[in-house]
Amino acid sequence: MRKKIVAGNWKMNNAKVESKTLVKDIKESVKGLELKNTRVVIAPTFVFLQRTAKKVKKSAIEVAAQNMHQAESGAFTGEISAGMLKSIGVNLVILGHSERREYFGETDELLVQKVDTALKHELEIIFCFGEVLEDRKSNNHFNIVENQIKKALFHLNSEDWKHIVLAYEPVWAIGTGETATPEQAQEMHAFVRELVAERYLSDVAEEVSILYGGSVKPANAQEIFSKEDVDGGLIGGAALKAEDFVQIIKAI
Ligand code: 13P
Repeated sequence: MRKKIVAGNWKMNNAKVESKTLVKDIKESVKGLELKNTRVVIAPTFVFLQRTAKKVKKSAIEVAAQNMHQAESGAFTGEISAGMLKSIGVNLVILGHSERREYFGETDELLVQKVDTALKHELEIIFCFGEVLEDRKSNNHFNIVENQIKKALFHLNSEDWKHIVLAYEPVWAIGTGETATPEQAQEMHAFVRELVAERYLSDVAEEVSILYGGSVKPANAQEIFSKEDVDGGLIGGAALKAEDFVQIIKAI
């Protein structure tokens, strides 16, 4: 049975004290939950990753990095490698986030390199994809998503896919307060699962968790998560408040 996942992407938020408090509060609340088939992930900024990884070690919470560089090591000032992440106990990395694509020029070609490097270092990948508003309006959203996934992930083999989690994040719904309707999310998730099934064996498609991201809040989480092909959420703003994040975990 594929796993349900609720992941919090903190982006560039929270300095030391806020970060520490948030981890502590989430940890306390998660302790009392019966998580069954659900994974809980938090992705703080790089500076607090090691401390957070240590703090949650004996809990059900996992940590993810928000990004990594594609090279093994070398003269890349300001960058972080996959090996560094592994060495501090991080086993997950978010790749392909629309903010990385838009503000840092990450292309499909670059993402192929990042994906390969992450897998080489046995990092599990939360791979983000999604269309911008114009694409949705011009009914081009399926094409866009198909291309993003095919270009960055379809060179992988079935075994590699055990380390892939997909996250559909329509760009128009990120941080805007506007959410895809549960039907729109389900429609895209089913489309993506079918794409994977056509390229690989249907077990690969059945096993891959597909998360929805874009203005998920305690008030709308349950309805979105109730859809058959929605296996959880990648949460931005609402993951910065322990109470809201825990409500979203409970919704699953
Ligand atoms: P919001 O939940 O703030 O819309 O952000 C979603 C997101 O980008 C998670 O990666």
